[in-house]
Amino acid sequence: MEIKKVGVVGCGVMGSGIAQLCAQSGYQVVVSEINDELLNKGLASIEKILARGVEKGRLSQQDKDATLGRIKGTTNTKDFSDRDLMIEVAIESMDLKKKIFAELDEICPKDAILATNTSCLSIIDMAVSTRRPDKVLGLHFFNPAPVMKLLEIVRTIATSDETIEVSKKFGESVGKTTVIAPDKPGFIVNRLWIPYELHAIRLLEDGVASREDIDNAVMMGLNYPMGPLALVDLTGLDVLLFVANAIYERLKDPRYIPPTLLEKMVAAGWLGRKTGKGFYDYK
Ligand SMILES: NC(=O)c1ccc[n+]([C@@H]2O[C@H](COP(=O)([O-])OP(=O)(O)OC[C@H]3O[C@@H](n4cnc5c(N)ncnc54)[C@H](O)[C@@H]3O)[C@@H](O)[C@H]2O)c1
Repeated sequence: MEIKKVGVVGCGVMGSGIAQLCAQSGYQVVVSEINDELLNKGLASIEKILARGVEKGRLSQQDKDATLGRIKGTTNTKDFSDRDLMIEVAIESMDLKKKIFAELDEICPKDAILATNTSCLSIIDMAVSTRRPDKVLGLHFFNPAPVMKLLEIVRTIATSDETIEVSKKFGESVGKTTVIAPDKPGFIVNRLWIPYELHAIRLLEDGVASREDIDNAVMMGLNYPMGPLALVDLTGLDVLLFVANAIYERLKDPRYIPPTLLEKMVAAGWLGRKTGKGFYDYK
């Protein structure tokens, strides 16, 4: 089986990036939202990013127009009836995702692959709401999807070898390095990254070192491009807290318990760059 037509459910931060990436890689893309306002917002964000690419000379006007020409927005899920691959990128809610999977199972061709971009929910739980659990898997992209090089391909106990193979080829065709991860909380990246981030925040909380010294130590001593505190300011302290809690909830591993400082900062609305204040000030 070869993927030619891709469908994306949800045109928020990740969905718009994934739709853009697929269209830029030559796929015909249909992307959906719950209403016209959110759809237009998502499509406008793709247009803006591509326009910036043209301005900066990274992309030709012709490529921008061709990419946009391959993306069709919709609020009608029936438009997914001819898709080879569906990527669900709605908000992180199991009830919603199960509902979407059941609906896609009804609408999409019976050999279509149904994927989710979930960060920490159990994928087999979504797969069993379809009649094709062997064709269900996780395709976990990173933010921003058109830029980040990794794609975690998440295999459930029911995913077939063929689904994995086709998905790997698809991932490579959109320029990603693929890794196979198990359907377990955090997959590979978050399983490693979350305890690392929480530990850095604990060092600050315990007064072991200043924020600058923690970040500089990691950057200069480990050759990481960013320190952990500057990085979490970029991704959002609320996102870290949410994912840490979600993984802890399922693994009960104390390494994922959020430090009090993180909880307090989120309660104060200090979420990082997006609110102008996190571990550093951005105002
Ligand atoms: N933001 C990240 O860095 C990141 C990274 C990797 C994975 N994820 C995962 O990707 C998913 C989406 O995250 P996001 O940050 O893009 O969220 P988001 O809130 O920006 O976007 C989700 C969008 O889905 C839409 N939506 C909800 N129900 C829908 C439906 N039935 N049909 C169509 N659209 C629907 C919402 O209106 C919203 O615009 C989540 O599962 C999240 O865990 C996020």
